[in-house]
Amino acid sequence: MKDIVALVTGGASGIGKSIVEMIITNGGKAVIADIDPQGKYVAINFGENAAFINTNVIYEKSVDNALNFANEKFGKVNVVINSAGIHGGEEGGYDLNNDKPHSLEEYKKIFEVNTFGTFNVITRSIRFLKKNQPNEDGQRGVLINLGSVAAYGIGYRNITYSSSKAAVNDNSRAFANKGIRVVNILPGYIHTPITDTNKKLNVDKFNLFPKRLGVNLQINVAS
Ligand SMILES: NC(=O)c1ccc[n+]([C@@H]2O[C@H](COP(=O)([O-])OP(=O)(O)OC[C@H]3O[C@@H](n4cnc5c(N)ncnc54)[C@H](O)[C@@H]3O)[C@@H](O)[C@H]2O)c1
Repeated sequence: MKDIVALVTGGASGIGKSIVEMIITNGGKAVIADIDPQGKYVAINFGENAAFINTNVIYEKSVDNALNFANEKFGKVNVVINSAGIHGGEEGGYDLNNDKPHSLEEYKKIFEVNTFGTFNVITRSIRFLKKNQPNEDGQRGVLINLGSVAAYGIGYRNITYSSSKAAVNDNSRAFANKGIRVVNILPGYIHTPITDTNKKLNVDKFNLFPKRLGVNLQINVAS
């Protein structure tokens, strides 16, 4: 991984943080692009090959700023990981207990980060990835998106989160002819702060095997 310079959105916590750790431990460099200012201390703990820039993935300018920062700090960007995401929304589209429709605003909020934010980072990243020297396979860069198995509905009734992730799962197939490899990861439940705060986990149904929360870095470290 010595040649890797990665921008990791959501790198201050959970899966993103584990990915940053894996890259740094294996000799690469990583920029944590996260809305959470604690990311600064996460980067300091990882040492000089890590850096932090406060980023909100929903804003084009903020994403451009993060990519320019990574490029200037480490000389290029050849890996981009979309791990910024939020959970929320409710089961189904209608609250049958209280006889009221679920909130469109909440739906939009989840989409804004998970779907539009991911799209934003993909589109703003390409101009950095495509200018890299190709390796022996012709590869100039790698884009990795955190979708979710929730998108396929297995034991999962939160249509807000799952549909935001369905869009991510389908987001990014257009860059192969530019030497940019796109990988979508669809984890089941992984033990991170996002699952710590979700009281409605149905791990037995959702994680087909093993029937427990995934340990981070089976995608390493729960925060
Ligand atoms: N943990 C799971 O079980 C699980 C399963 C499937 C998919 N995922 C997906 O993996 C990704 C990481 O999840 P996690 O469990 O590590 O969550 P997490 O809450 O530990 O980390 C998410 C990070 O994203 C950051 N973030 C949120 N909104 C942002 C924004 N607008 N701009 C920049 N950063 C922002 C947060 O500050 C946080 O550091 C998410 O996209 C999540 O949907 C998680």
